[in-house]
Amino acid sequence: MSNLKKIGVLTSGGDAPGMNAAIRAVCRTSIYNNLEVMGVIRGYQGLIDADFVPLETSSVANIIQRGGTILKTARSMEFMTKEGMQKAYDNMQKSGMDALVVIGGDGTFRGATEFTGIYPDIKVIGIAGTIDNDLFGTDYTIGYDTAINTVVQAVDKIRDTANSHDRLFFIEVMGRDAGFIALRSGIAVGAEDILIPETESDIDDLVEKLENGRRHNKTSGIIIIAEGDELGGAYDVSKIVKQRLPHYSIRVSILGHIQRGGSPTCMDRVRASQYGYHAVNALLEGKSGIMIGIVKRDVVETPFAQSIKHNNKVRTDLKEMTRILSI
Ligand code: F6P
Repeated sequence: MSNLKKIGVLTSGGDAPGMNAAIRAVCRTSIYNNLEVMGVIRGYQGLIDADFVPLETSSVANIIQRGGTILKTARSMEFMTKEGMQKAYDNMQKSGMDALVVIGGDGTFRGATEFTGIYPDIKVIGIAGTIDNDLFGTDYTIGYDTAINTVVQAVDKIRDTANSHDRLFFIEVMGRDAGFIALRSGIAVGAEDILIPETESDIDDLVEKLENGRRHNKTSGIIIIAEGDELGGAYDVSKIVKQRLPHYSIRVSILGHIQRGGSPTCMDRVRASQYGYHAVNALLEGKSGIMIGIVKRDVVETPFAQSIKHNNKVRTDLKEMTRILSI
């Protein structure tokens, strides 16, 4: 039996659609198990500032469908210091909080690992919440499915105008260190090429591909570029291509933070609910220092150290498939 009394829940790092569904699940599972639950405002910074709100079952009503995070989020520099962590710990002690569910990406889990290294009496469970999908230990992070669907909707619209004007569009999507969003959405929109940080990007190759397309009567095209690609962003790549193919009518579109907002998809809501429910159950079983994820339909637990270090790998074989499907 666990002797937990009060759980804190926070969201940290970049927000992701579905975070609210996870907060709801953490809150309601806690209350069902006779635990008190506190919302911590603005991630780890809220622990330092003692910015806490008690959550009731009604506090999380009508949020499962909402994007963003009702708890707000931040990237706290102060929490990275020993003094910041001490303040956070003292405030948790004062409020009687003995465990945390942290929802975020690898920065969030790094913070949690350092914190529990110094204060092992605080139990912490992580939920993978980032649109980038770049965490090891889960097939899908919260927000990824919504983000790729947002990209697909936007690019389908761009495709209409690209086609009408016989234009080539370079479209930049999020993914500072990872190409998951670019690769999946690129396949779904039938992109002519997809540039991602995990594979080498070769301009000669791209130019040859575009010219080959023209020879086969393609008059417009879509190139999807992850923001972290080695050749630079969409503007950089478009300039290089324009020099090589000056007769092409080229436009650039940066989709930006539209990818982080909006109502979560069904899959994001369901997974977020599963993660939140299992996170509280893991705490009740006395567990700590693990991230909850889903691998091949099963809920799995991965130690923070692994979820951070072994970045989830993109399926680079899908790039080869794209190459063939876009001839
Ligand atoms: O949420 C992850 C992510 O979208 C990255 O792909 C991107 O580089 C980063 O966040 C940008 O976040 P912000 O604008 O909040 O600094």
